[in-house]
Amino acid sequence: MTPTLIAPSVLAADFANLQRDVEMINNSQADWFHIDIMDGVFVPNISFGMPVLRDIVNHATKTIDVHLMIIDPDRYIKTFADLGSNILTVHYEACTHLHRTLQAIKDEGMKAGVAINPHTNVSLLEDTIKDIDLVCIMSVNPGFGGQSFIENTYKKIKQLKEIIIRNNAHTMIEIDGGVTNKNAQQLVDAGADVLVAGSYVFKSKNPTQTIIELKELLS
Ligand code: DX5
Ligand code: ZN
Repeated sequence: MTPTLIAPSVLAADFANLQRDVEMINNSQADWFHIDIMDGVFVPNISFGMPVLRDIVNHATKTIDVHLMIIDPDRYIKTFADLGSNILTVHYEACTHLHRTLQAIKDEGMKAGVAINPHTNVSLLEDTIKDIDLVCIMSVNPGFGGQSFIENTYKKIKQLKEIIIRNNAHTMIEIDGGVTNKNAQQLVDAGADVLVAGSYVFKSKNPTQTIIELKELLS
């Protein structure tokens, strides 16, 4: 079985010590950087934008997984490619022509991800699943770190896994929001490939150790 990937969410880092926190991830057992970009319209919060991402990428030595929580993301696909994003995830709810958006992301040399809100049924991805490299199942309502995990997520992972298998697709399943050592194993058992963890990692006493423990738990 492929090992579960851990993607700490930089949203929960200390922005006054951003380089320190980026180096922590570089030197840890984490696999990816999860980067949340919010526009204050699609979600009721604004995180950070291009200059901050540029500086993160300058120091980061691992895969850059960008989660766009913005309306009309097509406007910025090239910008995020030029900034060094490896995976670009757009929201299903924010794309009128999702199929076209996915092709545009791939044309820029990135992996294409689709995030779905807690209210969005996974069956809506049936017709595009073969074009999607990663589905990010939101296990909280997007916009903020530190929220409680929504239990219905397990069911969605299982349903999505069935769709992936049925279509002979190679899509990865990422879970984003409220991930802790309490739900990590059950998420992986349901079919998750990547776990995003923000507060659980960064608000812990020793983030490096917390990442080690998560990895050990899932190995
Ligand atoms: C929420 C973001 C998440 C968030 C996760 O809108 O997409 O990536 O940073 O944070 P935690 O792990 O604290 O729920
Ligand atoms: Zn996210």
